[in-house]
Amino acid sequence: MSLAGKVALVTGGSRGIGRAIALALARKRAKVAFCHPGDPAAGATLSEIQGLSMGMEQTADVSDEAAVEAFFDAATDAFGPPDILVNNAGILRQSPLAKTGVEEFDRVIAVNLRGTFLASRAFVRRAQAGRIINIASDLGILGREEMSAYTASKGAIIALTRTLARELAPNILVNAIAPGSIETDMTSPASMSPEQLAKDMATPLARFGQPEDIAAMACFLAGAESNFVTGQCFGVNGGSVMT
Ligand SMILES: NC(=O)c1ccc[n+]([C@@H]2O[C@H](COP(=O)([O-])OP(=O)(O)OC[C@H]3O[C@@H](n4cnc5c(N)ncnc54)[C@H](O)[C@@H]3O)[C@@H](O)[C@H]2O)c1
Repeated sequence: MSLAGKVALVTGGSRGIGRAIALALARKRAKVAFCHPGDPAAGATLSEIQGLSMGMEQTADVSDEAAVEAFFDAATDAFGPPDILVNNAGILRQSPLAKTGVEEFDRVIAVNLRGTFLASRAFVRRAQAGRIINIASDLGILGREEMSAYTASKGAIIALTRTLARELAPNILVNAIAPGSIETDMTSPASMSPEQLAKDMATPLARFGQPEDIAAMACFLAGAESNFVTGQCFGVNGGSVMT
């Protein structure tokens, strides 16, 4: 299945899961634009994309309304109106509730949830039809101690996915992916405490996933094979959540 001629925007595409998704979409011949908050890894990722298809990158904090609009304007000028949006940009902060400051809570919600809202709105203002793919988390369903802002943001992204699937049908299909533990800079087994590692490994598959596992599902949701799929949340999680 080819995505030739499609224009795909990926937020937070410079590294980790976003990078894997951007590369997988480029491998399917989509033109790929990604944004990042000034990540030094962006240049190398762009070169990899350009080895496969057309690509561009832009510094844009997804929590900043003007920056998101500017990113969409630049991508539309370069490649034409967007067909595919992957809301991937996210941050994780861990602290017990009593020690979580308002600024920390607000920042996580701003990047993860407001960013998803802002990019989805920018997409809808420019796209005639297409796909929105939101990266949630299994922790948005399960909850996780000492991650109140993160889990709340991810649960809200699943709710937003369902609302937008209803509101934007039939031309725009909206789905979420809820990854389990995926080996990236955000969730690196090497940097975890033994207790945390044990929690993340307590799944039927008893291992971490790779960013490419999420990219494969994103490609399915971006392409024609998923024409009858909207409002769903797909667990790519080694069995951490079963629905
Ligand atoms: N790694 C996991 O185990 C895991 C599990 C479930 C969900 N997720 C979700 O997957 C997504 C990607 O996570 P990852 O593991 O690749 O993390 P990562 O830290 O490796 O990458 C995060 C990406 O988001 C970008 N980013 C961060 N803040 C941004 C901002 N304000 N504006 C624009 N871009 C920003 C970074 O530049 C980077 O490209 C996140 O939404 C995360 O919550 C990850």
